[in-house]
Amino acid sequence: MAEPTSTPSSQFAVGWSGGSGIAYGMRLVEVLLQAGHTVHLMATPAAFRVLVHEAGVAIDPVRPDLAGLFAPALRANLRVHAIDAVEAAPASGSAGIRATIICPCSMGTLARIAHGFSSNLVERAADVAIKEGRPLVVVPRETPLSVLHLENMLALARLSAIVLPAMPGFYHRPGSVQELVDFIVGKILDRLGVAHALVRRWQTPSQKPGLTSPWLEGEEP
Ligand SMILES: Cc1cc2nc3c(=O)[nH]c(=O)nc-3n(C[C@H](O)[C@H](O)[C@H](O)COP(=O)(O)O)c2cc1C
Repeated sequence: MAEPTSTPSSQFAVGWSGGSGIAYGMRLVEVLLQAGHTVHLMATPAAFRVLVHEAGVAIDPVRPDLAGLFAPALRANLRVHAIDAVEAAPASGSAGIRATIICPCSMGTLARIAHGFSSNLVERAADVAIKEGRPLVVVPRETPLSVLHLENMLALARLSAIVLPAMPGFYHRPGSVQELVDFIVGKILDRLGVAHALVRRWQTPSQKPGLTSPWLEGEEP
């Protein structure tokens, strides 16, 4: 496992939109809370639908209980905001949010962020991160990608957003879906400068003949 480095407690804004891969977003929130950070969580109505289909979680769209998705011990630093709560902390540049992460990021939300729509709290939080020059990570999930999708991603990258597609690697030899999820969440945390021990760090492969991967040498990191 990677050696964690210390990071001060911070506020993060996490938006879930209706892209596939809600497990990435759930795990991201869980790890940030476990690390003692405050998380402002927002989810679009489409994210609720994805939660139903991918996590088997029944969410009441009128009174969604997103806090209930997390262990009671983690909820103290979790702030759940309604999607139309445009007065909530992530909507303001003065709230002191360290970074905003949209994970998963649907192509619809990505397009609206790229063009400054700010039609809900998730999009407004991203807009605020861009205008304040604070880290914005979007985790898009779609395949294949159309020219429109690619152009919207390029527009965001040109605005200094970190476009981090949900494309897990396989060189760490994952043995479970959880390890694939942690691969992406680890990548997000790396870009945010948040310490974690979610993935094995790549090491220089052995020069021994026949060995092609650090993981083949029988050494647990
Ligand atoms: C189970 C499920 C999986 C979906 N997967 C994706 C996806 O991977 N990428 C995407 O852009 N849209 C996906 N969609 C469609 C979006 O949810 C839909 O375009 C929605 O309008 C996006 O709204 P939002 O951007 O406000 O969250 C999916 C929908 C469902 C129900």
